[in-house]
Amino acid sequence: MPELQRISTVVAMQAQSETWRREGLCIGLVPTMGFLHEGHLSLVDYSLAHSDRTVVSIFVNPLQFGPREDLAIYPRDMERDLDLLNQRGVDAVFHPETVEFYPPNFSTFVEVQELTAGLCGVFRPGHFRGVTTVVAKLFAAVRPHLAVFGQKDYQQSAIIRQLVRDLNLDLSVEVAPTIRETDGLAMSSRNINLSDDERRRAPALYRALVMGKERIEEGRRDATAIIADMRATIERDLTTDIDYISIVDPDTLAEVAEITGPVVIALAVRLAKVRLIDNIAASPPQR
Ligand code: PAF
Repeated sequence: MPELQRISTVVAMQAQSETWRREGLCIGLVPTMGFLHEGHLSLVDYSLAHSDRTVVSIFVNPLQFGPREDLAIYPRDMERDLDLLNQRGVDAVFHPETVEFYPPNFSTFVEVQELTAGLCGVFRPGHFRGVTTVVAKLFAAVRPHLAVFGQKDYQQSAIIRQLVRDLNLDLSVEVAPTIRETDGLAMSSRNINLSDDERRRAPALYRALVMGKERIEEGRRDATAIIADMRATIERDLTTDIDYISIVDPDTLAEVAEITGPVVIALAVRLAKVRLIDNIAASPPQR
C-alpha cells in the first residue's frame, strides 16, 4: 500500500489533484475537523469504495465556531488520525494551517440562504456561513469528483447540496448514514468532552428520536404532541437545555405541523461543555 501523503498547502494539493485528474483518476474527498472516529471512517470507506484516490481533509475551521462556542476545547490528535487513515489506505491528508486558508486579507464568504435559517441556524448564527465558506475552499483545493458527508449533520448536508447546485460545482455530494455507539449515541468527536454522567445519560436523545419515529409510523400526525413526548423523554434522563426538537420536511427543512409524508426529526441539546445534535428519518404508514 502506498504511504499516506501529507499535504498542507493549497498549491501542492491542487498540483496533486491535477496529476490524478490527468491520469483519469476519480478523486473522493472526506472533509473532517479531525479527532476521527468510526463515523468518519465509514465516510472514508465510502470514498475508498467509490473513487480511485481518497483525500481526507483535517482542518478545525475557526470560521464555523461562534465566540462562545467550543473552538478552544475542540479535540485534536493529528498523529492518531494520520495513523488511522494510513491503516485504512487513504491516499492523502490535506491539513492546511489556519493562515494558509485564511490569510490576513481574506474577505470572501459563501452563504446559502433559506436552508440555513431554521434548526441549528437559529442557535448558531454564522455557523453555516463558516461551513459553506470552508467547504467551497476545500472543493477548490482538492477538486474532488465526489465528496462524502455524514447524515448526522443533516442540515449541513442539505446546505452543501444546495451550494453545489447553486454554484454549478462539478462534483457529487454523497451522504452516508450516522454511525452509533452500541447504546445509540451518535458518534461525534465532541462526545469526548461529555462527563461520565452525561455520557451515560446521552443515549436518551436517540431513544427520544426512535420514540418519535415509532409514533409517526403508528400514524400519529400531530407534530406538536410528538415533540412534547420526546421532550419529556429527554428531560427525564438529562439535565439539558434543549435548543430544538423539530419535525421538518426532508428537502426544504420547513417545520411540519401535520405529518402526512416523509419527515426528518432533528434535535440539538446543550450539556455543560458540549452541544449534541442528532436526527432520524420517519414516514407515516401508507393509507
Ligand atoms: O462536519 C464537519 O466536520 C465540518 O462541518 C466540515 C464539513 C468538515 C467543515 O468544516
